[in-house]
Amino acid sequence: MDRTPGLSVRLKLTLSYAGFLLVAGALLLAVVWVFLLRYVPEGVITPGPSNDWPRGPAPQFIPNRNDLQRAFVPRAVTAMGFLLVFGLLGGWLLAGRMLAPLTRITHATRLASTGSLSQRIRLPGHKDEFRELADAFDTMLERLEAHVTEQQRFAANASHELRTPLAVSKTILDVARTDPNRDTDEMIDRLHAVNTRAIDLTEALLLLSRADRRSFARERVDLSLAAEEATETLLPFAEKHGVTVETSGDITPTIGSQALLLQLTMNLVHNAIVHNVPGGTVRVHTEARPDASVLRVENTGYLLPPELLPTLLEPFQRGTERIRTDEQAGVGLGLAIVHSIVRAHDGTLDLTARPAGGLLVTIRLPGMPQAPYASRAH
Ligand SMILES: Nc1ncnc2c1ncn2[C@@H]1O[C@H](COP(=O)(O)OP(=O)(O)OP(=O)(O)O)[C@@H](O)[C@H]1O
Ligand SMILES: [Mg+2]
Repeated sequence: MDRTPGLSVRLKLTLSYAGFLLVAGALLLAVVWVFLLRYVPEGVITPGPSNDWPRGPAPQFIPNRNDLQRAFVPRAVTAMGFLLVFGLLGGWLLAGRMLAPLTRITHATRLASTGSLSQRIRLPGHKDEFRELADAFDTMLERLEAHVTEQQRFAANASHELRTPLAVSKTILDVARTDPNRDTDEMIDRLHAVNTRAIDLTEALLLLSRADRRSFARERVDLSLAAEEATETLLPFAEKHGVTVETSGDITPTIGSQALLLQLTMNLVHNAIVHNVPGGTVRVHTEARPDASVLRVENTGYLLPPELLPTLLEPFQRGTERIRTDEQAGVGLGLAIVHSIVRAHDGTLDLTARPAGGLLVTIRLPGMPQAPYASRAH
């Protein structure tokens, strides 16, 4: 692999180890030298006159400074040389061991940069700085892989859903060409319906990407007004399905996009009507709590298995066939859009299956600190 010229970290660490060892050794030798000097006289010592020598004991040899220097310096130099070799060798080995995890991490990073996101470093050993780095990297790879998979699935599903209306239109057109005696009005009606569905789907996809990009202006929005507007718009639709809609709640201010929050409420109320039973009810409630602005949409309906709930938020998930109530089923983007809008507003979304059947959706959005709403404009 190419590296720009310069010392490698291993070499730098080795030199630092060896350098440190040398400095410590030199200091130690200096201390020993100073200590020894205290017991050595400065000049040449001649033994004092001894009268009974050579009969008496021989005079003691007292080394002077030169003697000490002659004895000490070569040994000190040898010791320093040994320390240097030891420091370099030991440092090289130690640095190699210390940096080994880094090599593993670099290898994994290179593989990831070529697009292979499935491998992990899985660094063994106890938690140290390298292990933390490796674990953080593994977590990042995991997230990235999940994200890429999700995007790929999304693109595949979107293409599939968009192809269906196009394929249906083509069939209708083919039939029209081969059988000129067919009722053209009926064909135009069917083409119109199919075309509308394709446009709705494309618009839903655009909305989803807009919410995900968080590219919208933020203003003060009253959720209770959004709830009222949504229920009013969908009232004829609810009547057609034989469902009654009740709205309650006071001013519930939050900060966000008026259009997106209205869309969110519409999707939830629409779901609550469509996935209901004839004669069922929908309750929409808004509430300004001290910690959050809450929107709750609750509806009667078929029993929902709790394990199904988390999947409903995924794009193109439509619940099970059994609990599908209407013949012209939706695309399965409604709750995915709601989820994106909630995320873009830093809120949370909770789905609860009602024991008696149907669903309770609770949205919590950041509240406003005592917003000075003078009166509600209707
Ligand atoms: N209020 C609800 N009550 C019961 N089931 C619901 C409710 N809302 C959603 N579901 C279930 O969750 C599934 C996914 O809902 P979502 O809104 O994402 O898609 P959809 O309504 O099927 O289609 P679309 O909204 O795109 O037209 C639905 O098919 C339905 O099974
Ligand atoms: Mg829906």
